[in-house]
Amino acid sequence: MKTLNDYANIVNRRLAEIPAVIPEGCFEIGEMPWLLSRSMRYSLEAGGKRLRPSMLLAAVDMLNGDGEDALDFACAVEMIHTYSLIHDDLPGMDDDNLRRGRPTNHVVFGVGQAILAGDGLLNAAFETMLNHACLRPERSARYLAAIREIARGAGVTGMIGGQVMDLHCERSGIADNRALEYIQYGKTACMFVYPLRAAARLCDAGEADLKALSDYGRAFGLLFQATDDLLDVTGAQADMGKTLGKDAESGKLTCVSAYGLRGTQERVARLHSEALAALERFGTRGAFFRELVDSMVSRTH
Ligand code: IPE
Ligand code: IPE
Ligand code: MG
Ligand code: MG
Ligand code: MG
Repeated sequence: MKTLNDYANIVNRRLAEIPAVIPEGCFEIGEMPWLLSRSMRYSLEAGGKRLRPSMLLAAVDMLNGDGEDALDFACAVEMIHTYSLIHDDLPGMDDDNLRRGRPTNHVVFGVGQAILAGDGLLNAAFETMLNHACLRPERSARYLAAIREIARGAGVTGMIGGQVMDLHCERSGIADNRALEYIQYGKTACMFVYPLRAAARLCDAGEADLKALSDYGRAFGLLFQATDDLLDVTGAQADMGKTLGKDAESGKLTCVSAYGLRGTQERVARLHSEALAALERFGTRGAFFRELVDSMVSRTH
């Protein structure tokens, strides 16, 4: 069985090969045309746990699919995730200056260029998936179904919707538990649920597998955000690679603000059981996902 580290290495190797998307035939003035590709790569190659693309690949392996064929989809998910982090850190959003152990994209390249690096990564993600889909038209139904899942998870009713509600609640001081659930499912869980669903689509899996993976992704994603909220209070900046203590300072609606530290730990334990229950269907084939969620309960980074 491959480990998270094995999958992360596979993803990193492919990401390094993906064209840097330099506009063709443009004038070379100052740092252009390399500025955009440099700023996109600055954040993409800063490290990161590569959880989402690794989980997509592990799901394909679990369903006996073709891992090589799924790799561009995994890389696209990481590009979308990285764009979401660049934008999340902007002064108009969480206003953070440390990410993945480095100064944030806008600190290095400026706000305008950081917005464009995020936009560039989002578009490059879809271009990467569609380029792959064009190579094998006989599999286009699977590819389109997978791309649709990823678009949905990243989109208005997924990650972006959650981010909108996150900012809205922070700015207007709304402290409502239903809003919290909406935020955490949208901004974080959807980027696990939908890449896992995309893996199932690539394998042409049935409804029962799709549902089990969705249930696992939801519980895993909510657990992951609950631990992120805990670590903002109890974690070490050197391990996390980002500035901590910001949630309380900015009045963000988080698990800790809503349920307290104890309540959040109880939530983590409940979600851990829910994630394991969703895996029952897969028996021993679910070992990677079982170990992964176990390791998240007491994560430090
Ligand atoms: C950070 O995600 C954003 C959240 C959803 C909490 P990760 O903790 O997976 O960040 P990287 O990719 O490892 O940097
Ligand atoms: C970020 O949530 C979620 C997305 C980027 C979609 P947070 O704002 O809690 O993530 P961190 O703590 O900055 O990594
Ligand atoms: Mg945020
Ligand atoms: Mg943030
Ligand atoms: Mg956070």
